[in-house]
Amino acid sequence: MSRKILVTSALPYANGSIHLGHLVEYIQTDIWVRFQKMQGNTVHYVCADDTHGTPIMLRAEKEGITPEALIDNVHKEHSADFADFLVDFDNYYSTNALENKELSQSIYKKLKAAGKISTKTIEQFYDPLKNMFLPDRFIKGECPKCHAKDQYGDSCEVCGATYNPTELINAYSAVSGATPIRKETEHYFFKLSECEDFLKQWTRQGSGTDKATLQGEAANKMGEWFENGLNDWDISRDAPYFGFEIPDAPGKYFYVWLDAPIGYMASFKKLCEMKGLDFDEYWKQDSTTELYHFIGKDILYFHALFWPATLEYSGHRKPTKIFAHGFLTVNGEKMSKSRGTFITARSYLDHIKNPEYLRYYYAAKLNSTMEDIDLNLEDFVARVNSDLVGKYINIASRTAGFINKLFNGEITQIDNSPVIDEMRRVSSLIAESYAEREYGKALREIMRLADLANANIADAAPWLKAKQDGTDARTSLELDCSAAMEMFRLLTIYLKPVLPNLAANIETFLNISPLTWASVHTPLKNGHRINNYAHLITRIDPKQIEAMTEANKENLQATPAVAQVTSAPVSTLPEVEYISIDDFTKVDLRIAKIVNAEHVEGAEKLLKLTLDIGEVQPRQVFAGIKSAYDPETLKGRLTVMVANLAPRKMKFGLSDGMVLAASDERGGPFILSPDVGAQPGMRVK
Ligand code: MSP
Ligand code: ZN
Repeated sequence: MSRKILVTSALPYANGSIHLGHLVEYIQTDIWVRFQKMQGNTVHYVCADDTHGTPIMLRAEKEGITPEALIDNVHKEHSADFADFLVDFDNYYSTNALENKELSQSIYKKLKAAGKISTKTIEQFYDPLKNMFLPDRFIKGECPKCHAKDQYGDSCEVCGATYNPTELINAYSAVSGATPIRKETEHYFFKLSECEDFLKQWTRQGSGTDKATLQGEAANKMGEWFENGLNDWDISRDAPYFGFEIPDAPGKYFYVWLDAPIGYMASFKKLCEMKGLDFDEYWKQDSTTELYHFIGKDILYFHALFWPATLEYSGHRKPTKIFAHGFLTVNGEKMSKSRGTFITARSYLDHIKNPEYLRYYYAAKLNSTMEDIDLNLEDFVARVNSDLVGKYINIASRTAGFINKLFNGEITQIDNSPVIDEMRRVSSLIAESYAEREYGKALREIMRLADLANANIADAAPWLKAKQDGTDARTSLELDCSAAMEMFRLLTIYLKPVLPNLAANIETFLNISPLTWASVHTPLKNGHRINNYAHLITRIDPKQIEAMTEANKENLQATPAVAQVTSAPVSTLPEVEYISIDDFTKVDLRIAKIVNAEHVEGAEKLLKLTLDIGEVQPRQVFAGIKSAYDPETLKGRLTVMVANLAPRKMKFGLSDGMVLAASDERGGPFILSPDVGAQPGMRVK
């Protein structure tokens, strides 16, 4: 029976770029969703940007734009990042949407009607210059333990101590630099302390069985929290705040974490509207559909306590399971800007290009626990090159050509191959591993099969048989290569959740319809015609990794975290607008040979240059250097041009690039000359 499943990943904050740490989660979820879809289940995968809160409000202010404009820009950026990593949401929405406002307000009203909301006057830090209450993160000062300066209000980055902002010495507002004062304000609370019985029951449900709502470690963590006793949850913030106003409470806003998980519902609600699905079927109290949340271990508290309680007391279903994962380390350490290992999704794509390498590597490392996972960059190169190129693709690249060239592209169906039988036999084992999020285990099994296939091909040595005469050798060659194609097809089914693009290209090459898990049992048939084999993937060059970490080192100044941007008013150094190495390498500079130079009729400043940069057709460029050069003297010279400037239509024709020249009040323009030895087309960098 086909299951109905709703899956979410945590909603990334809209105040920063997606980085390789985030991608652990989105790739992990996407693989699971793709796997479940291949099983024939009905799966909806939703996510959204988490757009509310003080950091986003302040960042927008700093950039001189509205929060709406900021989250709009970020939404575009995040959507492109996810699409390029093949994270295939059915809807990627925003928490700042009408659906979310309505759902948040109606859930709040239900909680209130259930007697779960209270108010209390509390004292908070207040910035008297900026006229706003300050979240702990925006108060800085001297650490009460080790006396390090400029530490955050909640913890010291030097000695690791945690404390209350009241304990800071010489506290100041990170927003304005003012000394914060204490001020009273009324806050709204969700009475979590009254939800203890329900939460204990819910978090321990099915404990130790495969029906458990939480992983073992997570359930233990809950146990600790229960022992300490549950505090009521402060769900309001005072204006100015970017968020939703609380009904009947002017100037009071929902704390971002109240409306964020409701964003899961809102994104799904929008999907229902787009696809004609029944929202209530998935969210009503007694729903028979399944609901899974993939999250990082840092936000377990919100998802295993606040969220189920919110759902319970507003009359909704609870999550079927919560899947928490660990944190990413790079080369065994926390991601670090100074080491160049704080790598954004975009920077990875710029340097490594292929997102499926990272998907493969993460999958190979992932399991169902909350352990951290390490991206070892050296191992990454070795693993991808050896598993994907050396083992998997190698099966096709060594055999497909013979079928194309010698057998008219036609397959012979293979009915008696022990290796193929073995590959089919383990199909449900591999499926189980995927279902349990034991991806590493699944991939180890798949690579064992790839090893069997390669050994089988090595024994058969088709390249030798191809050189032999006689029909026996031919027939044997045909069978060997057809068997290899079937093995390749089976491996492609198993790898498809991880490598969806590559699988699609292979489906085209094999000339078959999209593979599902059931395709295991429909082999390539006699006479089936495959397409010509073309190169499928390339090895990673370790130089690409080097370039990536270098580029991210230089980015250090370019993308500071938000809290740092808004930090104390200290330095008065002149502001330099740095560009990153990534920005610079966008400019494609080439050595160009001036093969022709001539005057342009009617042009006062321009010469028309014909430039050879090693392309089939030379480029035509108009350059404003007539005042300084006689065209005849330029012919045959080498210079430097920008080769990727968008072509510009000018009065006298198309200008396809730009030559560089120096000038100021002392004279010019002077065009550039490379040193002896430079050749037309060489890249300048
Ligand atoms: N906005 C909240 C989630 C709200 S869900 C209703 C949030 N956003 S986040 O951008 O900080 O993180 C999004 C997800 O990415 C979280 O599940 C978080 O655990 C995960 N990761 C962020 N950095 C990570 C690593 N370095 N490693 C692994 N996962 C990480 O939290
Ligand atoms: Zn300290």
